[in-house]
Amino acid sequence: MDPPHKYGMVQFDDGGRLMADFTDCDFEELLVGLPVQMVFRRRTEDEQRGFVNYFWKATPAPGAAEEMKRISFAGRVAIVTGAGAGLGRAYALELARRGAKVVVNDLGGARDGCGAGSSAPADQVVEEIRAAGGEAVANYDNVATPEGGERIVRAALEAFGRLDILINNAGILRDKSLIKMEPENWRAVLDVHLHGAYHVTRPAMAAMRDGGFGRILLTTSAAGLYGNFGQTNYAAAKMALVGLMNSLKLEGRKHNIKVNTIAPLAASRLTEDVMPPELFERAQPEYVVPMALYLCSEACDRSGTIFNAGMGYFSRAAVMTGPPVQLGGDGTVPAVEDIADHWERINDMRGAKELADLNAATVDLMTPVQKPPAASAGAEAKPAAAAGGVDVQAIFDGLAGTFKAEAAQGVDVVFQFLISGSGGGEWSCTIRDQTCSVARGRHDKPTCTLKMAAGDFGAMIGGRLPPMQAFTSGKLKIEGDVMKSQLIEKLFKIG
Ligand code: NAI
Repeated sequence: MDPPHKYGMVQFDDGGRLMADFTDCDFEELLVGLPVQMVFRRRTEDEQRGFVNYFWKATPAPGAAEEMKRISFAGRVAIVTGAGAGLGRAYALELARRGAKVVVNDLGGARDGCGAGSSAPADQVVEEIRAAGGEAVANYDNVATPEGGERIVRAALEAFGRLDILINNAGILRDKSLIKMEPENWRAVLDVHLHGAYHVTRPAMAAMRDGGFGRILLTTSAAGLYGNFGQTNYAAAKMALVGLMNSLKLEGRKHNIKVNTIAPLAASRLTEDVMPPELFERAQPEYVVPMALYLCSEACDRSGTIFNAGMGYFSRAAVMTGPPVQLGGDGTVPAVEDIADHWERINDMRGAKELADLNAATVDLMTPVQKPPAASAGAEAKPAAAAGGVDVQAIFDGLAGTFKAEAAQGVDVVFQFLISGSGGGEWSCTIRDQTCSVARGRHDKPTCTLKMAAGDFGAMIGGRLPPMQAFTSGKLKIEGDVMKSQLIEKLFKIG
């Protein structure tokens, strides 16, 4: 019956605030902090009581909405490695144009990393940034050494007092097919790309943790993601960076440090003799910049993702895992022939998923889509669980009786159960020296905590809800050591 009301505060430049009921506007267009111009007229006047009603009209200040949506790096400090040329230079220029203070790192070596190096490329980019009114310092250290990495990060802290953004971009090429690839060429490429990222990211991560914010961009390549003839060293290094990202995203999570990876495609001295000339002309590094900078911005809340970017085209790449197929089981090891017999099914990527981490992948692997039906034998041994209403206390009373001591050799765990709903409560189950004891209440140091509704718990113990399925469907929530929770199936006769 009532139209929705939207109230808001208008703050005046010279002090004073106005609380207003917003009408006649498209609510979607209201932005918090939007600069507006205000005009008013007296609407009615209540002379008897001395009230004046005003009608105010607010219009966004010219260009204000666009300005608010602009992704800014003001106040941020960024390091771009290999920023003396190509992609790194383009990233550094745009970061500075959008307000970041930039450390322009470049060794100034040859395309294959040989030669003494030169300060000229980094100096030139710093000059360009300063000429445009931005702030930058040059650094000529080699990312391929731990000392180089430390010095690059120190340059940011000494010049600007903090570090928010790191783009690991420095790169060289030494292409040869594997049989012709001498160890020094193999190593030189891994040293710059993989070890270089480690050397700079390690001190950078510490500085970002201290600042409570961080964006790290790694640079992979289609050669690594998909393969390219004659680039085994480069492809191995570039794909290794994806592995680095996958673990680093987890380590950075609690410090608000996001780690992502870009696979660029751009005209540069690295690609001048590999890219067809017509592509080379269209592939200016500037086309890659928007994605790289977005991934380094506050606006980006993704971590652990890979994006292809080039010539105005963008796509996401990911490691996908097909649905698992269970062969053997129940103590039967599958035979080689079983693999041959189920080859098509194992290869089937329909329904493939992206998995968040190793734990998720392990649980997923053990959750085949068509799980064999749960054995019904023994269900009658737990009448409470099998009945419609769940007697949770009775389940815990009987739990020690379903314990398989022979499966508990070397196991030392405490499971804490938090069961919600009617009949629920808290129980802990301690397994040590091949014995099992169950106690009501909370344990002060559980190995893992399992949270479930009473009905689901009854179904799980009754064998009607496989634990893996309960976990992946969200009916079972596990905190602490997720891997240890999987012992439950092994340690108790379920169903
Ligand atoms: P580029 O050769 O123009 O720039 C790389 C810069 O890194 C050079 O200025 C070089 O002096 C610097 N550098 C090399 N070794 C260094 C070291 N040890 N320490 C500090 N600086 C060092 O090449 P481009 O194309 O701009 O490449 C940038 C990154 O993008 C590289 O990691 C490359 O592998 C990657 N990439 C580029 C692609 C492209 O299409 N251009 C495709 C896929 C990946």
